[in-house]
Amino acid sequence: MLSILGKLTKSQIRLGLFFGTLVGLAIVVGIVSLFPSASDQGYYPEQPIPFSHKLHAGTNKIDCKYCHVGVTRSHHASIPPMNVCMNCHRVVKTDSPHIQKLARAYRDGKPIEWVRIHRLPDHVFFNHRPHISAGVSCETCHGDIKEMDRIYQSKPLTMGWCLNCHRGETTPEQVLENLGKKRGKDGRADVAPVNCSTCHY
Ligand code: HEC
Ligand code: HEC
Ligand code: HEC
Ligand code: HEC
Ligand code: HEC
Repeated sequence: MLSILGKLTKSQIRLGLFFGTLVGLAIVVGIVSLFPSASDQGYYPEQPIPFSHKLHAGTNKIDCKYCHVGVTRSHHASIPPMNVCMNCHRVVKTDSPHIQKLARAYRDGKPIEWVRIHRLPDHVFFNHRPHISAGVSCETCHGDIKEMDRIYQSKPLTMGWCLNCHRGETTPEQVLENLGKKRGKDGRADVAPVNCSTCHY
């Protein structure tokens, strides 16, 4: 009799622990998902072809705008189509398996599916053009791309990060000068608009 009670109690305890853990987990997951979307800073995906910015934009000094033609013209900087690569790789390094993969994809008309790294949520509006015109460098927002073999997101790209520069707190000196702005006693300058509709649809 006593031993049966003991067994029952043991399995009841185990059952209790099991459900206790489930409830605990549910609460933790619930709390974590209440926090606003975290930044993707540090995102470092593998790419289908190991294209190196360090080699192309660094060592070989190819201008960013040669490949990212949209950056001064439109919202999107744009990723170059394969014919831009083939301008050189019809003859350069054709013995490389990576270049052979590129040439095959080009011949078959199957674009390389580059993994997107920097991406704002859909409710945010961003345009490269006014930034480039004001003299904000690519490095300010993307880090030292010329030193990267594989690109990663080096800046937070959060709302606070955007606003700190629009309010003049983190604006590079050269950009303040280009726009003829000076910081006030509060360390701020009126660099770019901060009203919600500037960046939100
Ligand atoms: C020879 C062409 C070429 C040149 C030159 C080049 N890029 Fe790129 N860039 C690419 C390709 C292809 C990708 C997509 C693959 C990748 O992410 O590595 C890319 C991706 C990027 C991305 C990431 C886009 C994303 O998914 O968020 C950034 C940022 C970028 N380039 C900035 C630059 C800057 C800054 C320079 C100049 C210093 C530059 N690029 C020069 C071809 C080029
Ligand atoms: C203006 C010329 C030029 C353009 C445009 C260009 N490349 Fe290159 N690429 C080079 C040079 C130069 C090298 C270094 C070759 C060497 O190591 O001898 C190279 C090397 C490479 C390599 C390394 C190959 C290996 O196995 O060592 C890859 C991969 C590559 N390029 C991909 C691309 C892709 C993808 C694009 C288009 C987004 C592109 N390249 C556009 C000139 C160019
Ligand atoms: C003020 C900050 C800022 C500057 C300056 C900047 N970028 Fe960007 N870039 C971004 C943000 C933010 C995104 C993501 C945009 C989105 O998701 O809508 C992005 C996205 C990109 C992409 C991904 C593809 C695309 O078309 O959106 C490329 C490529 C790129 N930038 C290249 C460049 C180059 C090259 C320069 C310099 C000539 C540059 N960027 C300057 C903030 C910046
Ligand atoms: C390093 C400084 C800096 C950062 C970071 C920055 N901006 Fe800007 N932004 C500027 C400057 C400078 C201008 C142009 C102001 C001018 O031309 O008078 C501008 C202009 C704009 C404009 C056009 C405003 C208009 O209607 O005239 C938009 C939209 C914008 N930024 C959105 C963003 C978003 C979204 C982010 C963050 C992802 C961001 N910016 C990050 C400096 C910055
Ligand atoms: C200079 C650009 C800029 C301005 C101005 C701006 N935002 Fe944002 N906002 C962003 C960016 C970029 C994000 C996405 C990144 C993030 O969540 O931090 C964002 C995200 C948000 C989010 C979503 C947060 C989440 O958890 O996803 C809300 C809500 C928001 N903004 C409200 C506002 C309101 C209200 C204003 C006006 C007082 C405003 N924003 C002004 C750039 C801006």
